[in-house]
Amino acid sequence: MMENLAIQISASSCSQVLVKSPCASGKVQNLPQSSLFTVSLRTGSKFSSSRRPVALRHLCKQYVGPRCSTLELAKPSKENEENSSGDSRELLDRQEETDVNRKTGSFNWLEQWYPVAVVKHMDKLQPRAETILGRDLVIWWDRNANRWQVFDDACPHRTAPLSEGRIHESGHLQCSYHGWTFNSSGSCTMIPQLEKGREQALNSSRACVKIYVSMEHQGMIWVWMDRAEGAEERAAANPPPFIPYLNDPNYVFDIGMMDLPYGYELLTENLLDPSHVPFAHHKIQGNRNTARPLNLKVVDSHIQGFSAKREETMDLIFHAPCLSRMDFRIPPPKTPPKGHPLALKVREWIASRKQPKVDEEVKQISTIFFCVPVAPGKSKVIFSFPRNFAQLVFKLTPRWFGHYSHMAVIDSDLLLLHELEHRIQERGGDIKPLYFTPALADTCVMEFRKWFKTLAQGKVDYGAKSSSTLPPRPPRRVLFDRGISHVAKCKICSGAAANFRRLKEVLQIVSVALVGLVGIASSNSWHVLSNFSVPLVCLAIASAVTSIWLSRFIKKMYEYHDYNHAVVE
Ligand code: FES
Ligand SMILES: [Fe+2]
Repeated sequence: MMENLAIQISASSCSQVLVKSPCASGKVQNLPQSSLFTVSLRTGSKFSSSRRPVALRHLCKQYVGPRCSTLELAKPSKENEENSSGDSRELLDRQEETDVNRKTGSFNWLEQWYPVAVVKHMDKLQPRAETILGRDLVIWWDRNANRWQVFDDACPHRTAPLSEGRIHESGHLQCSYHGWTFNSSGSCTMIPQLEKGREQALNSSRACVKIYVSMEHQGMIWVWMDRAEGAEERAAANPPPFIPYLNDPNYVFDIGMMDLPYGYELLTENLLDPSHVPFAHHKIQGNRNTARPLNLKVVDSHIQGFSAKREETMDLIFHAPCLSRMDFRIPPPKTPPKGHPLALKVREWIASRKQPKVDEEVKQISTIFFCVPVAPGKSKVIFSFPRNFAQLVFKLTPRWFGHYSHMAVIDSDLLLLHELEHRIQERGGDIKPLYFTPALADTCVMEFRKWFKTLAQGKVDYGAKSSSTLPPRPPRRVLFDRGISHVAKCKICSGAAANFRRLKEVLQIVSVALVGLVGIASSNSWHVLSNFSVPLVCLAIASAVTSIWLSRFIKKMYEYHDYNHAVVE
């Protein structure tokens, strides 16, 4: 049936919307409250009218996927304009009102979801310390509730860090200082030092740990940082951003994480700046010889972020406070296929037998980064690069090797950003006299700075840890320490590092044992073995050399790996 519809999408009124349009169909889930769009469209057919083409385009790209790049929106016809229902007009008016609010409101840093850890990196037996917005948190696996919990990392007895505690036999979180124990709701269930007056102390609100609203979402643990009354309702009404690729079986991806020695602003602007990749990540993720002008254009901006694009090949979204996402489409090569005419005919025949798919030949890769404000001069990045091609390579690559590649990428501009942040701070924190940005490649960096200054108060709400001074510059060895930035917090890498260390020790033992064996055999004229003394000595040398190589490999992979741009050709 052909009819015009007005659709209002708002998480406060509905969290699931069925989108049926020429560009996409399917369920759109987990919409943040700010996603208020009003569109006029024809169901099951080409659009005949749209009052908000940009909003619809934004909606489709953000929640349905980049296939919508082919979407064509026709200008509203006079007839349809006149026939719009009263309801539709009312919704359109409300949209305009919302647009104004979205551009002029004030961003609340606490009333947001922040990803705090990657589920696959977590150890269920080990409480984990994390800091978000200067607030210390402990994340622990609550087997009674079958979920991760996020508590304030301070014991109500004498503020010892609960992250240094343990999971008690009851499944509750136990403080390791005097043994107070806490259940899923933060209530104290045990005070070993008390007999008399025990019940009264346990029932006191002062014996409770403060808890945060948290959830597991798309492979990450998320925390809602606002703890004021009604926080649970506000958190439910504003779900974290939903990334369609992370739920799409046609895409392969892993999720990585690193703690960084520079703050949220530098991390976010860096991840909204694709033009640094060929230089700062030369020979790792790009190549300086392929750098080209990047004409980026902002298409929509509001209090919850902005979106930009580069022609038809790249879309960029900043969804405040954390998400920086770039979608790339790699069109098929335009050169005619080469080969023997018979082989070409066979290929053509096979292609004609295949089920036609939408965008079958378009390779897509997305770079998804969550920039998490930890404390002044410190941040955390959680990232994923889902793609719909080269799936076999991904499946055959061990996860620990994938993590090594991620660390190599992030380390290669780490020192630049750390130093840049200190320079900005030493000159009073104002980037205006320091940045000269004549190229369109810097569009998103400047748009982010504009959002930060005008809508987000020009500073992150770090609570009691707010400070205008950064932590002192650590030595280079500490800056590039992979144990601090990743390995200690990753079950996959710490497990792989332990296995490599064990292998190194085994090789050393084998080497010494073989040399000893050859020595005994030759001194005792032990005929059987003395005949093999040359191969045994060779084997001993090979074991020793491999163990030396392994110790360098372990150091480079899991301990420290510097990056010197000047020596990379
Ligand atoms: S400080 Fe936690 S039990 Fe004493
Ligand atoms: Fe790892």
